[in-house]
Amino acid sequence: LKAQRPTRRRYLLYGVSASLVVIVAGLSVVVALGVYNVAASAKHFSITDRLIKFALHRSISLHSRGIEAPMTESEGAVELGARHFAARCAPCHGAPGTPRNPVATSMYPAPPKLNDAVAGWRDIELAWIVENGLKFTGMPHWPGRGRLDEVWPVLAFLRKLPDMDEREFAHISRAPRRSPTNAAIAACIGCHGDGYTGSIDDSVPLIQGQSVEYLTRALEDYAADRRQSGFMEPVAAALSAEDRKRAALAYSKMPRPVLASESSVPTESLASGSKLVNLGSQDQSIAACIVCHGDIRSEHFPSLEGLTSDYIETQLKLFRSGVRGKTQFGHIMQSIARQLNTEQVEAVAAYLGAASVPDPSRKVSQ
Ligand code: HEC
Ligand code: HEC
Ligand code: HEC
Repeated sequence: LKAQRPTRRRYLLYGVSASLVVIVAGLSVVVALGVYNVAASAKHFSITDRLIKFALHRSISLHSRGIEAPMTESEGAVELGARHFAARCAPCHGAPGTPRNPVATSMYPAPPKLNDAVAGWRDIELAWIVENGLKFTGMPHWPGRGRLDEVWPVLAFLRKLPDMDEREFAHISRAPRRSPTNAAIAACIGCHGDGYTGSIDDSVPLIQGQSVEYLTRALEDYAADRRQSGFMEPVAAALSAEDRKRAALAYSKMPRPVLASESSVPTESLASGSKLVNLGSQDQSIAACIVCHGDIRSEHFPSLEGLTSDYIETQLKLFRSGVRGKTQFGHIMQSIARQLNTEQVEAVAAYLGAASVPDPSRKVSQ
């Protein structure tokens, strides 16, 4: 009998279990009765607040591990980031010269002014936040899924933000004013240029002179989330079908501002790129790119002339990984891109990019 009497350890176990049951039951009652106040106007206790911030920092630190940071500081990237920021982030976070909107500051947690906030984060942590958003806060994730590559221009801008005054921000975030401007493309020239200027950055494709069919379809694809881009999806979705057609038509009529340039790419990779583009590869059964992209092509297929090697390489990788495979003709390019190894992707991109590069001064010869 003596041996069956509960030991001290057993008493402890009963005690702990009983307390847990009481706590869970208590919490359930609080939740079920609706006692917990979810109002954004009711602040957390300061201990809850500190706990949440701690959990947030730990989670971001863990999940951003392993991100490779190809930080860029190019002028074009900063401008592209600034233009996106002014349209998509400033309504919540404010910007130099533009205080946060009272509606935004009534959110809980309120979106902070980023001038000061960015200093507390490492590059990869900031990139992770912008790509993934923050659950339970209202901070949205990047609309282009699988497009971490698009986050770096935004980061290039965020790093310049703390020292930026109102005038400088206005200067880099707004399109140059020129008249007469076609109203259909007023929202585009800040990034894509017009009949006189090219794109602001290597990652922004030249769309001047591309067929109206291809341009319209690209805009439809962005608007319908078939093509992923955090820069273009919000732009395309905000336009009516009619406006998308109008913008496509305006750009299709512009001259393609392309100038030959001297390239600094090693000649071996240009030679292997040239072979693939003009002849294809019989061993790998890859068709020559010019079959579909050359002068005699379907109006649904894009011209590659004037696209930068940067843009071409990114798109080929997106086809390869399947991020850009859901468009009507995307599967055609996807199966071609999947046959190319990384060296071949770089070689064709280098060759095509070097063959016709927009003038660095961005002036166009017409
Ligand atoms: C709908 C409003 C909203 C929009 C739009 C928005 N954010 Fe946020 N953002 C928030 C909120 C809310 C938080 C969370 C604040 C917190 O946790 O204290 C946040 C947090 C952040 C943080 C972390 C700051 C910190 O230290 O807590 C960064 C960086 C950030 N946003 C960048 C951006 C960028 C860049 C964009 C545009 C691409 C953007 N946000 C768009 C609402 C927004
Ligand atoms: C904030 C900068 C920005 C603005 C503003 C902008 N674009 Fe873009 N656009 C981009 C970027 C970056 C890409 C490349 C996206 C990708 O990788 O898919 C792009 C891609 C495109 C493409 C696909 C081109 C191709 O070769 O497949 C079209 C078409 C296009 N934009 C049209 C427009 C039109 C029309 C407007 C105005 C209504 C506009 N864009 C406004 C940055 C911008
Ligand atoms: C059988 C026809 C075909 C061949 C061959 C072909 N392509 Fe394509 N390519 C397409 C189509 C169709 C699209 C448009 C896909 C879409 O709309 O998403 C495209 C799109 C592209 C784009 C994106 C252009 C832009 O403006 O966004 C690039 C870059 C590209 N192809 C490169 C190549 C290269 C490099 C080769 C040769 C190795 C090649 N293509 C061979 C049909 C082809």
